[in-house]
Amino acid sequence: MTQNTAGTKDMTVLVTGATGRTGSRVAEAARAAGLTVRAGSRSQGTRFDWADRSTWADALRGADAAYLAHPTDVGSPDATEAVGALAREAVGLGVRRLVLLSSRGEERAHATEEALRTSGADWTVVRAAWFAQNFSEGPLVEGLVHGELVFPAGEVQEPFIDVRDIADVVVAALASGDRYIGQELALSGPRLLTFRDAVAEISKATGSELRYVPVTARQYGDILAGFGVPPQEVELLVEIFEGLLDGRNAHLSDGVQRVLGHEPRDFTDFAREAAAAGTWKA
Ligand SMILES: NC(=O)c1ccc[n+]([C@@H]2O[C@H](COP(=O)([O-])OP(=O)(O)OC[C@H]3O[C@@H](n4cnc5c(N)ncnc54)[C@H](OP(=O)(O)O)[C@@H]3O)[C@@H](O)[C@H]2O)c1
Repeated sequence: MTQNTAGTKDMTVLVTGATGRTGSRVAEAARAAGLTVRAGSRSQGTRFDWADRSTWADALRGADAAYLAHPTDVGSPDATEAVGALAREAVGLGVRRLVLLSSRGEERAHATEEALRTSGADWTVVRAAWFAQNFSEGPLVEGLVHGELVFPAGEVQEPFIDVRDIADVVVAALASGDRYIGQELALSGPRLLTFRDAVAEISKATGSELRYVPVTARQYGDILAGFGVPPQEVELLVEIFEGLLDGRNAHLSDGVQRVLGHEPRDFTDFAREAAAAGTWKA
């Protein structure tokens, strides 16, 4: 590794989930900071499949660091096993600097974090609040395009975080030498909103009437099952929603401010930008 003109480490980083919500932004922010990016996914760039261990070594070998975003919930048993195994393999190949995307307030995720911590890696855990981009990329978009969000969040408050802030924190942590090694960084947006507030913000940004329809976690599970989500995954999601959306996360965290030295992006700006890009147009 050498020091480049921006003062960041000239390192090669494997970004897993590089076609996904956080990975695509981590790759973009890392390139902008002068890091060399291996964009890992099953479909393009560097071939990397969490479910196929034979793809791991080639993706890791010669890299200095990796960003780990497991595609199923970070608290799932699959994630715990895969993150531990990948971290141990990475350390064995000399890729010691690992940053894991985890979830704020999710007890189940602690086992996955522990699997990373005990791997021998120079680790950082980024515990993120709910993504603002859950409303603009992924399964919630469809409902909003058709005028409503059905979701098991009652009137609970959540400080939605823009995934671009997560990416900036990940890259700053990678580029800061030892500073954030062995740390858990809790990240949230700048203010608390209910899901009803979030839908109202999107409604204001799009100019179309949108409804928020709260349901129970079990009812939501039945809806997911109706869409063909496998029963085991439904059960896990019901458990996660019942746990995460009970008010335990209705507080702010200051990781963005601590690492980046400025306020996180606001939900209103996210909604305005996503609406301008035509995200919720039928
Ligand atoms: N959503 C939230 O609010 C939130 C909050 C905190 C933490 N998290 C955590 O965020 C993680 C997900 O991150 P994300 O939302 O950035 O991801 P994402 O948008 O769901 O994308 C995952 C990407 O991973 C790739 N992928 C899927 N299956 C794969 C496999 N078997 N092997 C390799 N790549 C695979 C897919 O790309 P290809 O198809 O191209 O391979 C996809 O683009 C989860 O662990 C979740 O617990 C989420």
